[in-house]
Amino acid sequence: MDVRVHNIRKEFGRFPALDDVSLDIRSGELIALLGPSGSGKTTLLRLVAGLESPTGGTIFFGDEDASQKTVQQRNIGFVFQHYALFRHMTVLDNVAFGLKVRPGHRRPPAAEIRKRALDLLELVQLSGLDKRYPAQLSGGQRQRVALARAMAVEPNVLLLDEPFGALDAQVRKELRKWLREIHDRTGHTTIFVTHDQEEALELADRVVVMSKGAIEQVGTPDEIYDHPVSPFVYGFIGQSNCLAVTLQNGEIWFEDRPIGLRAPAEPDGPANLHFRPHDIELIDGCGGCLAGLVTASRRVAGTRHLELDLGRTHPPVEIELPPERAAAGDHSRIAFRPTKWKLFRDGERQAVVAEAKSESSPIEMQEPTLVAQAS
Ligand SMILES: Nc1ncnc2c1ncn2[C@@H]1O[C@H](COP(=O)(O)OP(=O)(O)O)[C@@H](O)[C@H]1O
Ligand SMILES: [Mg+2]
Repeated sequence: MDVRVHNIRKEFGRFPALDDVSLDIRSGELIALLGPSGSGKTTLLRLVAGLESPTGGTIFFGDEDASQKTVQQRNIGFVFQHYALFRHMTVLDNVAFGLKVRPGHRRPPAAEIRKRALDLLELVQLSGLDKRYPAQLSGGQRQRVALARAMAVEPNVLLLDEPFGALDAQVRKELRKWLREIHDRTGHTTIFVTHDQEEALELADRVVVMSKGAIEQVGTPDEIYDHPVSPFVYGFIGQSNCLAVTLQNGEIWFEDRPIGLRAPAEPDGPANLHFRPHDIELIDGCGGCLAGLVTASRRVAGTRHLELDLGRTHPPVEIELPPERAAAGDHSRIAFRPTKWKLFRDGERQAVVAEAKSESSPIEMQEPTLVAQAS
């Protein structure tokens, strides 16, 4: 079922936990809400479920305004980080619970409930464990039971709030893949909350990046990584560098020199240059480029990570190179230039003022805020 979140605001006391949040979720989509702790992810999920009511705005299930509906009528499947299964019930009874407690006219016959629960246990790969009690299961197995239980009621929407958050890294990774497979087979519209970017990027059809009660960006994992629209998204997803630069006559200057990057039509003044460690090229005999002294060098699998000191008033810059290109020792000087970068002005939420992949690429005019972009 489509879920549309329309201009939602939620205040606790006078504190806005969500401020004007809008989001369209397509039927059958797996959406990840990704953001730091306190950004409003759980609040948004609870509003969709009907466990909280909004201060303003509307949530639609399909074409219907869901705010008139109770939690039961919304028919939601929920899995929490610490979803206590019923300890005194077997695994099978836990999964069957949501169907057994339905009012008479909507409750399937006992034999069908049992069959449906057994089928779901097979789906979550727990066949044969139906007579066990939760205490006799591992953490990962318990969360799989919780998911089977949530799916038993054939929910309109599955809401998963950091369901793997309490599990160790290896189990998390396995369950992530497993959840994606289950989703592809069952096709439930699913909202998955996580603060783990790797989990979100690997699992979701689209990622919703949240910060301070607002949505920063919505996009596919590739869009979010390759085209972050704000400094927050740049910093939160993947590794990135941020350098204070100045614009002069459409050229980007670092300290006392131009660095060979252009942002024509941008007014003079300070800005921040963002680029990822791997989006750089080394330059020989640098006239106009960035340069720094190597202060640390680490080999991580197939890549060499270098930390560069560009001067005391600047944060260290990290760059990544193929290991054979970087026989550089400590304190050797490295000259480089970002090949893919974006420029943001301070104080504006989505102030991409310029971006480019490479200095030599054509620079085209775009929308007013985005003044330059390379192919
Ligand atoms: N019941 C509540 N009463 C007061 N403040 C709350 C309540 N629930 C959440 N908040 C506040 O709203 C903000 C968002 O919380 P939450 O949605 O739980 O964030 P997240 O799930 O992203 O960590 C936080 O600042 C939190 O303290
Ligand atoms: Mg939360």
